[in-house]
Amino acid sequence: MTVALIWAQASNGVIGADGAMPWEVPEDLARFRELTMGSTVIMGRRTWDTIPPRFRPLPGRRNIVVTRDPTWKAEGADIAMSIDEALALDGSPWVMGGAEIYAATIAYADRLEVTEIAVAPEGDAFAPPVDPELWALTPATADAPWLTSRTGIAYRFLSYIRA
Ligand SMILES: NC(=O)c1ccc[n+]([C@@H]2O[C@H](COP(=O)([O-])OP(=O)(O)OC[C@H]3O[C@@H](n4cnc5c(N)ncnc54)[C@H](OP(=O)(O)O)[C@@H]3O)[C@@H](O)[C@H]2O)c1
Repeated sequence: MTVALIWAQASNGVIGADGAMPWEVPEDLARFRELTMGSTVIMGRRTWDTIPPRFRPLPGRRNIVVTRDPTWKAEGADIAMSIDEALALDGSPWVMGGAEIYAATIAYADRLEVTEIAVAPEGDAFAPPVDPELWALTPATADAPWLTSRTGIAYRFLSYIRA
């Protein structure tokens, strides 16, 4: 099994505020789409709720939603009642958040794809800590250049593998 986590975080670790990402970087969304297309994505029920109904389930991907609510259902979503159950449904899933699900799955992960966004907004959802004893940047991203979004925000792509 290969478990990959993918998220975008501000420089202060914020990943969400009031159920949304508090920045606009379309290049990050495009990369998310490109990396996850054709695969299984695992998300928490609250992250599912943040996706506008017209965009869910995420097309071209198996959408697994983790919930403790045995009555929850949504068209196009496969349901898992635990992290273990979610991870057992596919051999190489992408975990796509949110904060609670990242924190619960990083111990199982082999790979982290992190977009760092050069902003420091207020927020209520945070990225999991990336322990430098356990994680190393890939050589290709160790010196990742800052790029500029068409919205004017600086961002860069970081890839971590187990140290
Ligand atoms: N920047 C990014 O890359 C990124 C990506 C994704 C999300 N986000 C942001 O993250 C925020 C949402 O994160 P969040 O932490 O509030 O919620 P979340 O992780 O998306 O979902 C939490 C929900 O998942 C279910 N759950 C969690 N652990 C479980 C377990 N062990 N077994 C079964 N079900 C479990 C529960 O659902 P029930 O309550 O239904 O039981 C829980 O309420 C939003 O602001 C969103 O915009 C950011």
